[in-house]
Amino acid sequence: MDLYEYQARDLFAKHGVPVLAGKVASTPEEAFDAATELLKEGDLVVVKAQVKTGGRGKAGGVKLARTAEEAREKANQILGMDIKGHTVHRVLIADGAEIAEEYYFSILLDRSERRYLAMCSVEGGVEIEQLAVERPEALARIGVDPNVGIDEAKAKEIVDAAGFDEDLKDQVIDVIIKLWDVYTKEDATLVEVNPLVKSAEGKIIALDGKVTLDDNAAFRHEDHEALVDKQTENPLEAKAKALDLNYVKLEGGSVGIIGNGAGLVMSTLDVVAYAGEQYGAGPANFLDIGGGASATVMSNGLDVVLNDPDVKSAFVNVFGGITACDEVARGIVAALDILGDTADKPIVVRLDGNRVEEGRAILAEANHPLVILVDTMDGAAAKAAELAAK
Ligand SMILES: Nc1ncnc2c1ncn2[C@@H]1O[C@H](COP(=O)(O)OP(=O)(O)O)[C@@H](O)[C@H]1O
Ligand SMILES: [Mg+2]
Repeated sequence: MDLYEYQARDLFAKHGVPVLAGKVASTPEEAFDAATELLKEGDLVVVKAQVKTGGRGKAGGVKLARTAEEAREKANQILGMDIKGHTVHRVLIADGAEIAEEYYFSILLDRSERRYLAMCSVEGGVEIEQLAVERPEALARIGVDPNVGIDEAKAKEIVDAAGFDEDLKDQVIDVIIKLWDVYTKEDATLVEVNPLVKSAEGKIIALDGKVTLDDNAAFRHEDHEALVDKQTENPLEAKAKALDLNYVKLEGGSVGIIGNGAGLVMSTLDVVAYAGEQYGAGPANFLDIGGGASATVMSNGLDVVLNDPDVKSAFVNVFGGITACDEVARGIVAALDILGDTADKPIVVRLDGNRVEEGRAILAEANHPLVILVDTMDGAAAKAAELAAK
């Protein structure tokens, strides 16, 4: 789950990372009140669009205000704005910092190296992507051993590599260690601060934060449930979650995928992506219905997949094991019964493994107009892609 900046800011504060005071507002009036409160201490606030995408500054989603009236006006402009396809429903009213310098820092998962990666630069800010491409040497990349983490020595290695001024190093080391706390203690897969700033008084502050939490660790964090944004959660994913299905929506595809076993589903995605190249069709989702592919699970799965407006055809790929193919076939027939007229897209089924002949016979017998049986995985993928492209 990606967090909003204000949520990331709260997590930072919880772990002692220095942040600026701020309040969330969803109406211009609330923005006025929040700014009134903050302007008691300072003379500048920023009104910041809260959307789960970067580049808000460049898109006009970050604006300064010197009075509460001005903050209300800026909030009025920003609320409802569309930033890269995300509608702004909330703004963060934060203290305005006098920025002397902008830096960059992030920690992420480096899957190929099987460790974490810390990235840091003394040239942070809104042009960081460009910097990474044009002058990669200006962005220090330091591998982090998961068994050791970011201790003082590692933090020192990072600030040395980034080239911070001597007089700032201790402060930045301290902040980096606290950001590592956020990363591990909250089970994050990404913590990014851009910009990390030096204020006019020489204080290091995290001005903008991007955090992704590992949903697989949600059971360890009861407080993370409250961070879910029901308003913008993908409705299909929310429905699948409620049905206890292992579902991930994928962008840009039109073939709905259902399989039993995560490994099989992953390879199904690959095969469909490959077969679909010539048709411009690809997988629209990941859905693993697991070992016990009962009729209920199958109908829940088909219900979610077929209700995805992106889906033009579905591919059910099952390898019978303990749950044999005949049970799965009965599940499919029963599921189509349950769904009735709401099922209206072609469903390509490939069965193999335990009791495959019986399974195929059940589907042949049922002779459902939407079901197309194909014997091989490659053949079925090609058929599903072809149907999706029609
Ligand atoms: N609280 C603040 N005070 C002063 N300037 C800010 C503040 N927050 C952001 N800015 C300025 O706006 C720029 C963009 O803001 P940021 O929060 O990084 O949004 P994004 O990364 O989405 O563009 C920052 O690089 C900084 O220069
Ligand atoms: Mg930023």
